[in-house]
Amino acid sequence: MNVDKEWQGKAVLITGGGGGIGRATAEKFLEAGAAVAVADIDQARLDEFSRAMGGRGDVAGLVVDVARVGDCQRMVSETVAKFGRLDLLVCAAGIWVEGPSERMTEEDWDRVIDINLKGTFFACRHAIPELEKTEGGIILLSSDLGLNGAAGAAIYCASKGGVSLLAKSLALELAPRGIRCNAICPCDVDTPMLAQQAERFGGGDPEGYLARLRANYPQGPRARFASAEEIADFIFAIASPRLAPLTGACLPIDFGHTAGR
Ligand SMILES: NC(=O)c1ccc[n+]([C@@H]2O[C@H](COP(=O)([O-])OP(=O)(O)OC[C@H]3O[C@@H](n4cnc5c(N)ncnc54)[C@H](O)[C@@H]3O)[C@@H](O)[C@H]2O)c1
Repeated sequence: MNVDKEWQGKAVLITGGGGGIGRATAEKFLEAGAAVAVADIDQARLDEFSRAMGGRGDVAGLVVDVARVGDCQRMVSETVAKFGRLDLLVCAAGIWVEGPSERMTEEDWDRVIDINLKGTFFACRHAIPELEKTEGGIILLSSDLGLNGAAGAAIYCASKGGVSLLAKSLALELAPRGIRCNAICPCDVDTPMLAQQAERFGGGDPEGYLARLRANYPQGPRARFASAEEIADFIFAIASPRLAPLTGACLPIDFGHTAGR
């Protein structure tokens, strides 16, 4: 198959598509000729994305809250109503919370689990019948913290650990129907989420917070965060139908964080 042509005429739905990784991924698929539905809770981000695209590419912005099952159903039906098909679902909507577990509230738990885990499941649940028609694929945004635990991030780790096993379970369940499902597991990525994380949890010193994260990298003084574009390149690569054997994988893109001590 001609690599340059494999996304032409196809449709991709990206949750969290107004954010760092989701938006970079949307741009990548639009460049490749796919129609892209960008679903996000943040109307302003969707508007900004549409303006930036300036009519280039076939793009639809959908305001949804993935924590609502009805919104997950609607975003799939609106994507198919507009583009006539669905070939790939990328679940990138997500939020972060951290702090000592004894200070976490029920609201912290519900919000993170509802968006990161429940929202991911119900996006998949409603996309499955459409993906079956196209023998399409699913890519879930897990994290290095969906493979390893981290002190002070129990709720986020629980949500992303769930996403990793969701990817494996769906891969097995959907393989007989021609649908692949994989998760990617990045460490820190230079996106609005990381900036907000540093602002909110950095104790008034966001730069110090980011420096402490980098200090944990195996690269030492060469440590840097991954860019959203690097993650999007990776998503684009593994989404290719040419990679048929790749399913059920939770792939770290983490500068070696999960390779060992
Ligand atoms: N940035 C990182 O360091 C990093 C590392 C590993 C994994 N991840 C994961 O990658 C994914 C994308 O992260 P990002 O860094 O691009 O974050 P981001 O904050 O830049 O983008 C996330 C997007 O999700 C949207 N969103 C939040 N709640 C939503 C909801 N209820 N319904 C619909 N949309 C909602 C936000 O409006 C935002 O546009 C997340 O799942 C995140 O957990 C991020």
